[in-house]
Amino acid sequence: MCGIIGAVTGEKVNQILIDGLKKLEYRGYDSAGVTLLDGSGLELYKYAHLNQSIEKLSVMPQVNDSMAAIGLAHTRWATHGVPNDLNAHPHLDCSGKLAIVHNGIIENFRELKEMLKDSGHEFISNTDSEVIAHLIEENLSLIKSEGSGADEFLRAFSMTLKALLGTFAVAVISSEYPDTILVGKNMSPVVVGLGNMGNFISSDVSAILEHAEKFVYLQDLQIAAVTKSSLKIYDFDLSGIEFAATPVTWSYKDAQKAGYETFMLKEIHEEPYAFTETLLGRSTDKLELYFDEIHFDPHELADIRKIFLVGCGTSYHSAMVAKYAIEHWARIPVELDIASEFRYRDPVLDSTTLVVGITQSGETIDTLAALNFARKSRAKVLCVTNVVGSTVTNNVDAVMFTRAGPEISVAATKSYVAQLAVLLGFSIALGRFSGVLFKSEADRYFADLQNCASMMEIALGRETSYRKLAEKFKDTRDFFFIGRHMGYPTSLEAALKLKEISYLHAEGYPAGELKHGPIAVLDSNTTVIGIATKNKLYEKLLSNLEEVRSRNARVVVVANDSDNSVSNYFDDIFYVPDTFDLFSPVVDIIPLQFLAYELAVRHNNDVDKPRNLAKTVTVE
Ligand code: G6P
Repeated sequence: MCGIIGAVTGEKVNQILIDGLKKLEYRGYDSAGVTLLDGSGLELYKYAHLNQSIEKLSVMPQVNDSMAAIGLAHTRWATHGVPNDLNAHPHLDCSGKLAIVHNGIIENFRELKEMLKDSGHEFISNTDSEVIAHLIEENLSLIKSEGSGADEFLRAFSMTLKALLGTFAVAVISSEYPDTILVGKNMSPVVVGLGNMGNFISSDVSAILEHAEKFVYLQDLQIAAVTKSSLKIYDFDLSGIEFAATPVTWSYKDAQKAGYETFMLKEIHEEPYAFTETLLGRSTDKLELYFDEIHFDPHELADIRKIFLVGCGTSYHSAMVAKYAIEHWARIPVELDIASEFRYRDPVLDSTTLVVGITQSGETIDTLAALNFARKSRAKVLCVTNVVGSTVTNNVDAVMFTRAGPEISVAATKSYVAQLAVLLGFSIALGRFSGVLFKSEADRYFADLQNCASMMEIALGRETSYRKLAEKFKDTRDFFFIGRHMGYPTSLEAALKLKEISYLHAEGYPAGELKHGPIAVLDSNTTVIGIATKNKLYEKLLSNLEEVRSRNARVVVVANDSDNSVSNYFDDIFYVPDTFDLFSPVVDIIPLQFLAYELAVRHNNDVDKPRNLAKTVTVE
């Protein structure tokens, strides 16, 4: 996710902004920029030098010598438009008098851009964000032409924010109104810091912690007007809002993790946001809305007879969910492949096959090699990745981005649910495209999918009870996770999480296979966790769990809130909200992520950097 910072003080702000950018570095970024406003107007400096942009800005004489007392800065994590200097923020309007920084996604930017182009605005980037600068400019000139004077900057800003669909934290400064930073938000975070030397805004309190004494967290659909000595907060209709500023007692390190004890915990809590962001601007009827940057003409997909899904680790598990969903909704045969095996097994590929590589990082060597092989075999190639500009995007026919933001913890959590979001949405859209689903059906499924974010929130609210139940298993060393149908990929992912961070022995198994071997291993020292949320094989799973129990293994289940009978059979239950069965992996994984987390903590492991593992594996 992008990071924004702004400062308005009685003194120079250059160093505050550069230091703030350095403090945001831990989040990961692909470009950075700063705009400084002094008596001669806005100065703008921005670079897309991977991991070096901030360093470059910090040694620029123009930045170091600036006397500006107001400015904005930004670290970018690309979603629309590849990482390059032009796409980096801040963005200017046509007049060069106002500059904006933005974190989030503007869903309706294409319509706005067309409308603004028709009114004569010229765009220089491929971002969704640039429309905001031009729309403020447009609204400002409208308000001025009506001659209605007072608060024109604020009014133009609120008019603009009201026209935006999507998620955003937007800050703007203007040489015409040189004392004020305006910032507004919907879903993306903004904190305002009040200090002795001036006032500050940021998307991350860690960037402004040392300059401010008190902080105000802006709420959704609010605007803050910040000068060096004042703060006013309004709703989008510009009614004033009372607020209370409070001190933050976090250290810088705590602040990076937003107060959570680890990045993994923070990222688990970001799952609903990652899920929602990833679905923004996508729907059921237009397959092309799933493709970013590099597009298929959807008609090219009309000839597809078979789909191969390839990935490693967690990405392989989301591929498995997608296999079930695509076959169910689009009735296209899907094969599932571990990326490191794919090209060595002579898969039968031609121009009627679509190969989809799923990789959070976009750099996993086995997945890259699998997609290169597919391309050489004339298959159509699509990738799903979280990193715009990553290597995988260079050699494919189309790209679908997840929008989980940078994931710092090695164990994938929010990137997994973001992959599920885009793959499940794509499966429904493919069902529509293939003519299998009626529009009304597809729309209903899509609405249910979007609603999973609320179900995830409910599950996250149960963190304490999940972790308390997990604590019971602190002495167990052997775990089996079993599930059927959509419970199967969840068992694989849950076992992987547990292995990765707790170093305990864990296996994920399709429950029906247990009796064909693994059941011999079970005894009273084993804990078997059944994914017993409702799906068409629920009853069969319960029978499988009975078989397990009769071998004296301890049984725990993940079950739906509406399941009134499950407590008659089992004592230890992770309850989760009900979901449509094909979406259940999105919610069912949450208690199991907390299980892995709690056991890792109990075993004193470094949760964010587990031993022997790398976030991205770039060797075969
Ligand atoms: C590594 C990581 C896993 C990840 C896998 C695939 O093994 O430790 O957490 O799932 O790579 O990564 P990718 O970036 O391709 O999704």
